[in-house]
Amino acid sequence: MKEKILVTSALPYANGPLHIGHMVEYIQTDVYVRALKMAGKDVIYLCADDTHGTPIEVNAAKEKKTPEQFIKEWFRKHKQELEAYHIGQDSFYTTHSKESQHFTELIFSRLKEKGLIYTKDIELMYCEHDKRFLPDRFVKGICPKCGAKDQYGDICESCGTTYTPVDLIQSYCVLCKNTPVRKKSNHYFFKLSSFSKKLEKYIGGNKNLQPEIKNQILNWIKGGLEDWNISRDAPYFGFRIPGEKEKYFYVWLDAPVGYISSLANYLKGDLKKAEKQWNESKIIHFIGKDIIYFHLLFWPAVLMGSDFTPPENVVVHGFLNVNKEKMSKSRGTFFTAEDFRKAAEPEFFRYYIAGSLTHTMTDIDLDIENFKARINNELVANIANFAYRTLSFANRAFDSKLSKIRDRMLLEEIERKSGEAVKAYESLDFRKAVSIILDISSMGNRYFQDNQPWELVKTNKGETHKTITDCVNIVKTLSILVKPILPEFSREIEKQLNIKEQNFSDLSKKLENHKIGEAKIILKKIEELKLDIPKKKEEEPEEPFSRLNLRVAKIKSVSEHYKADKLLLINVDLGKETRQIVAGLRPFYENPQILVGKHIVVVSNLEHADLRGEKSEGMLLAAETNDVKTVRVVEAPKSKPGDQVYVEGIGTGKKTVKFDEFMKVSIYVQENKVLYKGSQLQTDKEKLVSEVKEGKVR
Ligand code: MSP
Ligand code: ZN
Repeated sequence: MKEKILVTSALPYANGPLHIGHMVEYIQTDVYVRALKMAGKDVIYLCADDTHGTPIEVNAAKEKKTPEQFIKEWFRKHKQELEAYHIGQDSFYTTHSKESQHFTELIFSRLKEKGLIYTKDIELMYCEHDKRFLPDRFVKGICPKCGAKDQYGDICESCGTTYTPVDLIQSYCVLCKNTPVRKKSNHYFFKLSSFSKKLEKYIGGNKNLQPEIKNQILNWIKGGLEDWNISRDAPYFGFRIPGEKEKYFYVWLDAPVGYISSLANYLKGDLKKAEKQWNESKIIHFIGKDIIYFHLLFWPAVLMGSDFTPPENVVVHGFLNVNKEKMSKSRGTFFTAEDFRKAAEPEFFRYYIAGSLTHTMTDIDLDIENFKARINNELVANIANFAYRTLSFANRAFDSKLSKIRDRMLLEEIERKSGEAVKAYESLDFRKAVSIILDISSMGNRYFQDNQPWELVKTNKGETHKTITDCVNIVKTLSILVKPILPEFSREIEKQLNIKEQNFSDLSKKLENHKIGEAKIILKKIEELKLDIPKKKEEEPEEPFSRLNLRVAKIKSVSEHYKADKLLLINVDLGKETRQIVAGLRPFYENPQILVGKHIVVVSNLEHADLRGEKSEGMLLAAETNDVKTVRVVEAPKSKPGDQVYVEGIGTGKKTVKFDEFMKVSIYVQENKVLYKGSQLQTDKEKLVSEVKEGKVR
């Protein structure tokens, strides 16, 4: 009989949308499952929504919904999103099901029978305002170790110390901000401590686990295991503990039981069959690194204690970051799966993630530039393009018919590489699989290019026909190899090749004397990813100087304002245009005509103004001594009209600025140099100067 394999992904909380971090896990699991199925293995892929616990109960109440209604809505959305990303789960179920309740109670009763459960009174935080016991994440306060404020009741994010909520200083209820009180409550405990030896053997003897994880868990065991509280007080959303009124099973007890109940759902509700099949199968869980504890200590112990088979392997992946940082709503780098698929094909995301995944816990980075480059250069330009140029050539030159293969050596080399890619999939090194696939595709492109079929066809149609037959066979190989990652793309290629659904066993078969279908372009390059991802650094506060656009201007003529005796009307050449500037310089120049011909500096984007009946199209920079007895224009004698004036490292403005914005920028002179924050104002040709030695510039 064929070995049966059950593969699972961690169950997402029915408490919000799936995001692209979740998708990493579902893609990793899905690619693996598809690869196993293509290798002819008997695999069932199971998942479900995780529906219980305080956060779900509280959030449902906030939305004025019953928890049942609330989880139903998330279930529908999750299912839809998983399908959109082609996650081929054989059963996506819910932990709020009769099958889950059955297995949770069954497991609990078996543990109890074996004396692995006991009860004891413990002291917890209780909010008298909300009339509820507060779980760790619902109490905040000052860390007893380092004094950091606003820390959760389980761990200090500042110093990393773990503690219980009663240890917090000045604690408060997250829901109502009141101070909680200590209150005793009777709770159920699972004797995890009695599993030290068994777990040590189970973990230590497991050949599949990633070594770093193995060590971590063995260290935890060595450090001593504590018994595990598996009950919670009402109000709670979950399964009530049999014989109790106000006590429920803790969500983390029934959550992994969801794997078994999802199998029961797959088996149409047959509970007996589900239990049997679970115990006869090889079980492989895929999880993120944040839930190792639950899957490699609690869960195996609970299973062993209740006569169920523990997992054969638990594959742990790292976290997805965006532009090297943790996804964050405030930084604008938190993307729901839906956001992302509206910006880019789900298969593009699958390709990028698969190409980043190895069998390690290393975090994965979604770098948007890199994403675009890899999709465009690898997937589209290398793989998809090779398929199209080959098939369309066969359509045109040979009426879609194939002949015999020509280069047996080349195809054998490719077959050998294909075998390596299949192995890479099975060993969870998808990055390697992708790199082999790209290698094969490059070989195909090179072969096509080197043989120049578009030339050869004119002189030797027979050889060309065989060459194209080789290329079509390489396309078929590529389509099979990318199938676990790109099931839709592959299906389309199979259609164009006019062949049935392919598996890995078809890699060794050759297409000869076969008629293919019509070539079509399947994937197109990403022009622009319609996602706003902010730059890596947070925007610095705007530099006021950068709003100004200062330009060199040459004074063409100077005349006096007919109404105001302090004002001069100055006509300047700004390179591409001339402007009139009104400046209050008359009292400071005995003979204003000496200004004519000078190269001065103008704020060219200043809002135009009307100064006593004359329009002023900008303002000139002038330096004044501190006693304001002398005022002299700022000059740039060697620069041309229109030249940009700037300060090294600061940008220049494009939009119009108002007079008061200009007044906020303090430019000054020192030793006849014109400065802003210690840096000299300059053009590409020179530094600005002023006849005033020291003072302000206005
Ligand atoms: N409900 C529990 C799991 C119960 S399994 C019996 C849970 N849910 S979760 O929604 O928070 O996370 C589901 C899975 O997604 C976990 O394996 C978690 O590690 C993974 N990820 C959540 N955020 C992630 C990233 N940013 N990157 C990669 N995986 C991420 O935990
Ligand atoms: Zn409260």
